[in-house]
Amino acid sequence: MRKILLAAAAAAIFAAPSAAMAQAPIILKFSHVVAPSTPKGKASEKFKELGEKYTNGKVKIEVYHNSSLYKDKEELEALQLGAVQMLAPSNSKFGPIGIKDYEVFDLPYIVPNKAALRKVTDGPIGQRMLKLPESKGMVGLAFWDNGFKQMSANKPLNVPEDYKGLKFRIQSSKVLEAQFRELGAIPQVMAFSEVYQALQTGVVDGQENTPSNMYTMKFDQVQKYTTLTNHGYIGYVVVANKKFWDGLPADIRDQLTKAMKEATAYGNGISETENSESLEEMKKAGKTQIIVPTAAQNAAMRKAMEPVYADVAARVGKKLIDEVLKETQGVTH
Ligand code: LMR
Repeated sequence: MRKILLAAAAAAIFAAPSAAMAQAPIILKFSHVVAPSTPKGKASEKFKELGEKYTNGKVKIEVYHNSSLYKDKEELEALQLGAVQMLAPSNSKFGPIGIKDYEVFDLPYIVPNKAALRKVTDGPIGQRMLKLPESKGMVGLAFWDNGFKQMSANKPLNVPEDYKGLKFRIQSSKVLEAQFRELGAIPQVMAFSEVYQALQTGVVDGQENTPSNMYTMKFDQVQKYTTLTNHGYIGYVVVANKKFWDGLPADIRDQLTKAMKEATAYGNGISETENSESLEEMKKAGKTQIIVPTAAQNAAMRKAMEPVYADVAARVGKKLIDEVLKETQGVTH
């Protein structure tokens, strides 16, 4: 916390856009927790490239990958305090700061494919949801993709019974907590940067994540089995510190908005390929055995997780769940 406060004070003095510093570039620190060679890592680098180009170097964008500045929980505090100017936390990580609606994307099987997801994020629901961070001193700029989550552990995970009693690392989402409880497992919230070691030392038995996150963090080297469940989705909300964003000269803000739009199209365009390539790399490395569940096993998993919708309806809002379901699957619960 002290580190964040000191950085925030320094940021206020040195990095705030002001007339007195007309010649000095505006520094935009973009912090995130995954590797450079992931969909988010590559989209953030694209934003840096385009943002600096479109502003003719008037903005210097510093991207900090791999939790090198802040870990999950800290980075949201740092953004609110102005120690960094931009982040892209996963939907699952906004609950602890009081934005629960994004957890709707954590519901099992709510996103059947990317086309259905786009209908939500690019439509009226997405536009409305992008406004949510404003009450917390942030501006929502875009939705970035990662991909579909797979389950892993040191034992084969085929059917719901296989999860009983196992400890699973989760992101800080109540929906994910309910999901693992329905499976009879023990969920444990943990920062992304701590997962590899927790898996290696047996602090937790398993985890759920996308192939790109698993491969770049070497989770596949410390988990004997990975089951291709595709039961959930990881995506991001790109947010900026509101004071910083609103305080930018209008032309600069427009140029950065344009850069963000193009970086979003680029990142969302490569996310599927990035994830299938990571899965192929995991197969090649051969450290984790890839399990493809049968249709019956998939159906059993779906059935076991179905009660999560009712469990968290009060938290996420039944109306929102129904709205999203209508877009993604044409059904209501
Ligand atoms: C996780 O914590 O597992 C992911 O949200 C990390 C990320 O940013 O993709």
